[in-house]
Amino acid sequence: MRAINWSKASWQSKAASQQATYPDQDALHEILGKLSRLPPLVTSWEIEELKGKLDLAARGECFVLQGGDCAESFDDCESSVITAKLKILLQMSLVLVHGTKKQVVRVGRIAGQYAKPRSSETETRDGVTLPTYRGDLVNHPGFTSEERIPNPELLLRGYERAALTLNFIRSLADGGFADLHHPENWGLGFVKHSELADEYERIVESIRDSVEFMEAVSGTRASTNRVNFYTSHEGLHLPYEEAQTREVPNRDGWYNLSTHLPWIGKRTAELEGAHVEFFRGVRNPLGIKVGPEVTAEWLLELLGRLDPEHEPGRIMLIHRMGAGNLGKTLPSLIDAVRNSGRRVLWECDPMHGNTETTVNGIKTRRFDNILRELEQAFEIHQSCDSVLGGVHFELTGEDVTECMGGARDLSEVDLERDYRTRVDPRLNYEQALEMAMSIARHMAKMRS
Ligand code: PEP
Ligand code: CO
Repeated sequence: MRAINWSKASWQSKAASQQATYPDQDALHEILGKLSRLPPLVTSWEIEELKGKLDLAARGECFVLQGGDCAESFDDCESSVITAKLKILLQMSLVLVHGTKKQVVRVGRIAGQYAKPRSSETETRDGVTLPTYRGDLVNHPGFTSEERIPNPELLLRGYERAALTLNFIRSLADGGFADLHHPENWGLGFVKHSELADEYERIVESIRDSVEFMEAVSGTRASTNRVNFYTSHEGLHLPYEEAQTREVPNRDGWYNLSTHLPWIGKRTAELEGAHVEFFRGVRNPLGIKVGPEVTAEWLLELLGRLDPEHEPGRIMLIHRMGAGNLGKTLPSLIDAVRNSGRRVLWECDPMHGNTETTVNGIKTRRFDNILRELEQAFEIHQSCDSVLGGVHFELTGEDVTECMGGARDLSEVDLERDYRTRVDPRLNYEQALEMAMSIARHMAKMRS
């Protein structure tokens, strides 16, 4: 399955939005040359394995949990931050396994989520205008002209940090850290003081009982010591993505080996644009963000370009409509996709349509709006005889104060206490766990 009239560089003849302008093109090309020779971060067999699982999720036979930072920062490439993120994703997945009675596929926004689309090309402070910060892969957040110049060396630094992160995650996942026999490994210090601790402990106990029961009946030890964990990031920086897109032995076509699951963001999904051109030719599964402005005609045209063969597991449509918009827009999209004879994986991102700014200028999101969008999404898919096969969160394993609400009812004043994100506000550890518990309860209710 090869795309017609495509090469990994064919995107270069199209308009590419949200790209950095590098002043030194020779330096950029030298770095891209290095990147294209360095070993891949993931393999085609992992990518194909994930594609198979995404197809199962599209059929409702398993469930996808995708989550992580809005923008990873190079400074956060340290063991405590990575383990905290892995722990919260594992804990959430345990809660979801319990609530959904399905296998959960874990996908991190991790090990490469370093480039960001921005709503403005420039930023002005006190009368000074500089190029906008586009993520650690491109430039620095500090407000000086030197820090804002796109620096191609950062592409290598990003590749290296992605590799270090992934190496650590793979070791943890393989080495028993994620063993269902020992969920105590995943505890985060402050869980003990959380109002959610009792409910979480009950879930852990019940899963431990089921594992022991299975082992007693079968007389074998359940192979629960290894969990699969996949990576994803927005496929935004096309020169970086191209440099790691390769042919592999014994498989047809081209794979983007910088991540298992790239997605096309809302701001770069132009039908005639460079991102759609690039991704139509790579064999990875592909996420597509779907905002409230999307029409059925446009979506079908896009799917025709990105997945002409209706390949199982290829497309994940990530709707991010906002709690007030879902009922108006989603049902007609679900119907149109189904009537076109396609089966896609529908995933709900309840974060990006629910962003607001406080009077003090702080970007935040309300726990209740996020949950409301999710609950509406489950109900709309059910009433349209469709499947919501996954959820997508911006979250962190740390105790930050970026989103309002949740069990501790964080208020506008609390936001000032530990607001760290450079781009979008994330659910903190407790809010994320509470969200998983709410989804699990809601799904159990819908089943009964
Ligand atoms: C994101 O996922 O961080 C993002 C920018 O999303 P969207 O493209 O949906 O706005
Ligand atoms: Co974001």
